[in-house]
Amino acid sequence: MITHKDINTPTPILSSKAQLELFSRASDVKGTIRSLESGRPVLITAFYSNGLTLLKELQIHLKRKFSGNSFKEQRAYRDAYRKLSKLILIEIVDHKLIVKKAPSIGWLKTFYPETSDFLLTFPKLQGLNSAWQWYQNGITVPVLRNKIHPYYGTYFPTRFDHLILFDNWLKRYDGPKKSAIDVGIGSGVLSFQMVKHGFQKVFGTDTNPNAIVGLKEFMGDTKLSRKVELDFGSLFGKWEKPTELIVFNPPWLPASHTLDTNDEAIYYHETLFPEFFEAAKQRLLPDGKLVVIFSNLAQITKATPNHPIEKELASGGRFQLEKSLKRDVKKASDKTKRDQHWRDSEKVELWVLRHS
Ligand SMILES: C[S@@+](CC[C@H](N)C(=O)[O-])C[C@H]1O[C@@H](n2cnc3c(N)ncnc32)[C@H](O)[C@@H]1O
Repeated sequence: MITHKDINTPTPILSSKAQLELFSRASDVKGTIRSLESGRPVLITAFYSNGLTLLKELQIHLKRKFSGNSFKEQRAYRDAYRKLSKLILIEIVDHKLIVKKAPSIGWLKTFYPETSDFLLTFPKLQGLNSAWQWYQNGITVPVLRNKIHPYYGTYFPTRFDHLILFDNWLKRYDGPKKSAIDVGIGSGVLSFQMVKHGFQKVFGTDTNPNAIVGLKEFMGDTKLSRKVELDFGSLFGKWEKPTELIVFNPPWLPASHTLDTNDEAIYYHETLFPEFFEAAKQRLLPDGKLVVIFSNLAQITKATPNHPIEKELASGGRFQLEKSLKRDVKKASDKTKRDQHWRDSEKVELWVLRHS
């Protein structure tokens, strides 16, 4: 069984803080940035906001340095920012940030039970903080009665059009509801939708240990935990028995680089879809439905003209199309729309397949 020990968390830095340069409001910002550029780590002191100030100053400095709009220049900016911001450190004592006016972050105790005093990079700490807020406050999802509480390092939906498509389809689904499989369960939304619509049992998998540990903890021993069973594994994991419904909301973009676990929610390797369809063929009951959620994102951003589901239907020889539903993605805010014109034509897709 996987536990907290197996999940992905920021690595604590245990080295001494004695030789570190300190940063506070009184420090000379330019000098501090020069230190970062020469590879020397800097410790944030006094107030949490000093960390935010230094990050902002670093951004301003690097934007001036890499001021061009070209893709290459923008990438150079991002690379430099990533490299230098990692050198900004913050101190944790007794599982709490030692600076004043700092947020309290419950993960610090959960993730490092045996290490109470350590350093973390400021960007990682910010990641822990925002994830903690999402987790604590929960996220309202229009198709669910209860909020979801995404665990640190787990994918969760920020737009809901595809969930609405799936919900509308589930409303009209009149087949048996004994069991279903949710491949890549993430923070559990699709499984919770199926339970809401009367499925007695849902078997979920994920290759991200944080998703599995997080859902286990969230469900505890509630009624939900008897309806949703989990396995940490690829594709169908240990679930062999055929079911009447298989659902997969896969990554929507082709990978052009090596993936770490967080990327696996967004980018797919070429082999993912053929392997998924092959395994699904074995695990779908004769009259079962295979539902794949997808989008035209890869096509409209010109990442690839290939559509893995259309490709499967055209040449896989395993499944035929029952129906495909499409829905416009609700327009992003004006600010993001200006930067991303392609978003205007974004659509989410629900593909319903059955055995051919
Ligand atoms: C786009 S997210 C969808 C999560 C959730 N089902 C939802 O709809 O919000 C894709 C999920 O699939 C998982 N995943 C990626 N490759 C996988 C694989 N080979 N087997 C199982 N899960 C995988 C990712 O870790 C991620 O949680």
